[in-house]
Amino acid sequence: MIAKVLFVLGVLSAAYAQKTPVYVYYESLCPDSMAFITKQLYPAMKELKDHVSLELIPFGKSTWNTQGSDTIFNCHHGPEECYGNKIHACAISHIQVDSFQTEHTRETLIVDYITCLMSGGFRDQPYALYARKCAEDTHVKKFESIEQCANSTEGSKLLEEMGEKTFKLENPLKSVPTITIRETYDAQIQKQALNDLPSAICNNLPKPIPAVCRAHSGASTISGGIIAGILAIIISIFRFI
Ligand SMILES: *[C@@H]1O[C@H](CO)[C@@H](O)[C@H](O)[C@H]1NC(C)=O
Repeated sequence: MIAKVLFVLGVLSAAYAQKTPVYVYYESLCPDSMAFITKQLYPAMKELKDHVSLELIPFGKSTWNTQGSDTIFNCHHGPEECYGNKIHACAISHIQVDSFQTEHTRETLIVDYITCLMSGGFRDQPYALYARKCAEDTHVKKFESIEQCANSTEGSKLLEEMGEKTFKLENPLKSVPTITIRETYDAQIQKQALNDLPSAICNNLPKPIPAVCRAHSGASTISGGIIAGILAIIISIFRFI
């Protein structure tokens, strides 16, 4: 009985272990960021969302200066990118799930929306129109509040905060996108993340490594369930001594 309880507790604690923070520093119109978010981040989050807390930072190699009450941004791929980065920053801050979106958490809805924005359709139309279409496609509600934010000082403030987070890592950022685990730069993680994000994440999760990581290279094959099982067996043996 006690062994069973401990087994269940072991499995539960493995499943609800603290999430590992993954930071993605990127730019709204950057082709390498688009490739990374659509081909690596999106599928990796589908698989590993229970183990990762994602922080998206749309700023990249931008800079800003203040002129009176105005903040003027200067972006790597031009003014349209500054507007795009504001849409991203505002979406990350404003998106909420409603009670009908039970398949989503706030984070998974943000990932769906940002992935749509990064899939390239903005090339044929103004960014604001494209961002509205992505909101419809991914069932993001109240796009108006995101657009109002992006078109006002609220968007500038949020983008400045993204800039401050970026400069905390590196000023200026050397490569876009940059991916870190736990907010410290590591060349090895960066290299692996660009080619195989699930393995980069799995290799850096605290032990016991979750079962979903078994398919990924280099990850330990001992899952939390197995450890809890072994623990349960040891405890039940002791009960007979
Ligand atoms: C917000 O700004 C964008 C880009 O300048 C523009 O296309 C759009 O019409 C503006 N929307 C509103 C509601 O003012």
